[in-house]
Amino acid sequence: MTRLVQVDSPGRSWAGERVLVRADLNAPLEVGADGCPRVADDARIRASVPTLRFLLDSGACVAVCSHLGRPRGQRVDDLSLAPCAERLADLLGQPVELLPDSVGPGVATRVRALGPGEIVMLENLRFHAGEEANAAAFADDLAAGFTRYVNDAFGAAHRAHASTEAVARRLDSSAGLLLAREVEVLGGLLDDPAPPFVAVLGGSKVSDKLPLIDNLLDRADRILIGGAMCFTFLRALGDSVGTSLHEDGNAQALALRLLERAARVNCTLQLPTDILVADRFDAGANLRVVPSDGIPPGWMGVDIGPRTAAAYREVIMGAGTVFWNGPMGAFEIPPFADGTRAVAEAMAASSAVTVAGGGDSGAALGDMGLADRLTWVSTGGGAALEMMEGRALPGVAALLRS
Ligand code: 3PG
Repeated sequence: MTRLVQVDSPGRSWAGERVLVRADLNAPLEVGADGCPRVADDARIRASVPTLRFLLDSGACVAVCSHLGRPRGQRVDDLSLAPCAERLADLLGQPVELLPDSVGPGVATRVRALGPGEIVMLENLRFHAGEEANAAAFADDLAAGFTRYVNDAFGAAHRAHASTEAVARRLDSSAGLLLAREVEVLGGLLDDPAPPFVAVLGGSKVSDKLPLIDNLLDRADRILIGGAMCFTFLRALGDSVGTSLHEDGNAQALALRLLERAARVNCTLQLPTDILVADRFDAGANLRVVPSDGIPPGWMGVDIGPRTAAAYREVIMGAGTVFWNGPMGAFEIPPFADGTRAVAEAMAASSAVTVAGGGDSGAALGDMGLADRLTWVSTGGGAALEMMEGRALPGVAALLRS
C-alpha cells in the first residue's frame, strides 16, 4: 500500500529546515493602469497560502518556486513571477523577496542565509530548458542547499518536470495541503462516490474528453452531455446540426461506440433535447430554441436549451455525487451562458458532494460567485482531467511512499 506523506503528518518537524516548495502560481496576468503586469485572478496564489503559512509558522526557511506561462527555456521579462510575489506577500502579510533566478550560486547563498519563518520566491522555473525536460542536472541545481521538498502544485502534477518529478527523488519530500486535498477529493470520486454519481461534461471536442468519458462510464450512473461536443454525438446519430461546431468521421464513430458501451455498462449517457441556436457567433445574433434533432441549416448551437437545463438541474439535485467538467455552451458570450449558469446554480444548491474540474467550469463558477458553494473546485485544469481519466500523475507518483 502506498501513501502520501503530508506536511502535517504526525511526527514531522519543520523548525530550521530549508524547504523548497513547488506551488502552481501560474495565474493569469493583466496590464495595470501603471502599464505594469499584475495578477488578474489570484485564486491559485490564495490556494497556495495554507501550506506556506503552515511551514512558516512551523519555523521552516522557505523558498517557493513555480512556472508562469510557457517561456520555453528562455528568459521572458513579461513572464517574471514579480506580480505573483507581490500578491503572495499581501496574502501572507510578510515580505516575499523575488530572487533573480531559480538556480545558481546567488540563489544557494540566499537560501543558506534564510531564517526560520522567512520566505523568498525563485524566478520562473521555465526560464530554464532543463525544467520541462525533467533534466537531472537542473533538478540537482534546484535541490542544492535545501533539506526538504514540498509539492503543493496540483495544477502542474500532470507534468513530469524537474521541479515536480526529478527533484522529489532527491530530497526528503512531502505533499502540501492543497495537493493532498485535491488527490483525496478527486480520488474519492473515482473510488467511492456516494450514489447516484452524476458527471456533467461539456467542452468542444469528444476526442479531447474520450478517455474521461471512457473512465467515467464504469463509475457514473449518469453522464449529462453539453457543450459543442454534443453536436458530434447528435451528428453521429444522424441528426442535422446546421453550422454547429462538431467533429467528423472518426470522432463520430467514437461517439457511437461510447453510446453503445454506456448501454452495455448501464450508465445513462444523456444528450440535450433542445438547443439554443444563433444565426451568427455574436452577442447580437438572432436566437431560437429548437429541438436537438432539428437544428435548421445556417443556424449554430451555442448553448443547451431551457428544457435540457431544467432536466439537468433535476438530475443534479437528486444526485449523491456530481462531477462537472466543461461549460454547457459558449458562456463567455452573455446571451449563450444560461445553460452553464443553470448547471452552476444547481451544483451550488444541491446537497450532493459537488466537485468541479478546473479550467473553464472553475472560471465560470468564479465569475458567477458560486465557487464557495461547491464541495470542491479543483485548481487543476489538465491535472484534474488526467486524474479523472484514471491516469497516474507524475508529480503525485514521485511523492508516494510504501
Ligand atoms: C495550468 O495552468 O493548467 C498549469 O499551471 C499547468 O500549466 P501548463 O499547461 O503550461 O503546463
